[in-house]
Amino acid sequence: MSNSNLPETRGLFIAMEGGDGAGKSTQAQRLAAALQEAGRTVLRTREPGGTPVGEQLRALVLEHGNGEIDARTEALIFAASRAAHVQQVIEPALAAGTVVVCDRYVDSSIAYQGAGRQLGTEPVRILNTWATGGLEPDLTVLLDVDPARGRDRRTAGQAVEDRLESEPDAFHLQIRLAFLEAAQAAPGRYLVLDAGRPVDELAETILRRVEKLLP
Ligand code: TYD
Repeated sequence: MSNSNLPETRGLFIAMEGGDGAGKSTQAQRLAAALQEAGRTVLRTREPGGTPVGEQLRALVLEHGNGEIDARTEALIFAASRAAHVQQVIEPALAAGTVVVCDRYVDSSIAYQGAGRQLGTEPVRILNTWATGGLEPDLTVLLDVDPARGRDRRTAGQAVEDRLESEPDAFHLQIRLAFLEAAQAAPGRYLVLDAGRPVDELAETILRRVEKLLP
């Protein structure tokens, strides 16, 4: 049965991934602006966060001073924030035909909690498949950054690093490798870019690729 009030095309789900200091937020913003200029309805959102409960979970897990948070608890907090985000924000937007540009998604948990915190990529993947009901991005843009360079970039503008950012470079190297591994496992659904390339060039390359996927 068809309902004429429902849009015929589902939107598009783009995830932006990469290590801290890769410039994801800048590229998410550029992409969203370019698509909006082209007349698309766009939702730019981020994880952890994106809902009232998600923003509270974000503060809990990223701010210093909340006491010890063990690795499993950390993974569950990110997954809980993601579950709310998918249910309340991402799925409804996609159903309405919106292009969703999300700063971080499941791959961040696989990389940070699975590899960085050494919970194992597979258990973290399973947890997140359950949390998201299996929703996967149509395209993941991976901004690949060398950890030392990422640290320089993120501390240039701000003095204080959050709980995850302040982990040593070795932790961030494991994360980098896990992101690259995820991309290698499904090359058709990733766009892997060297985060050190000029901002305009990156924005242009991302836009070209996304345009090809638009309904
Ligand atoms: P982010 O929002 O990119 O940081 P910023 O506020 O600097 O823009 O991400 C916050 C941190 O949370 C980042 O260090 C990565 C971490 N993170 C995880 O460890 N697991 C996750 O599932 C997500 C979404 C983020």
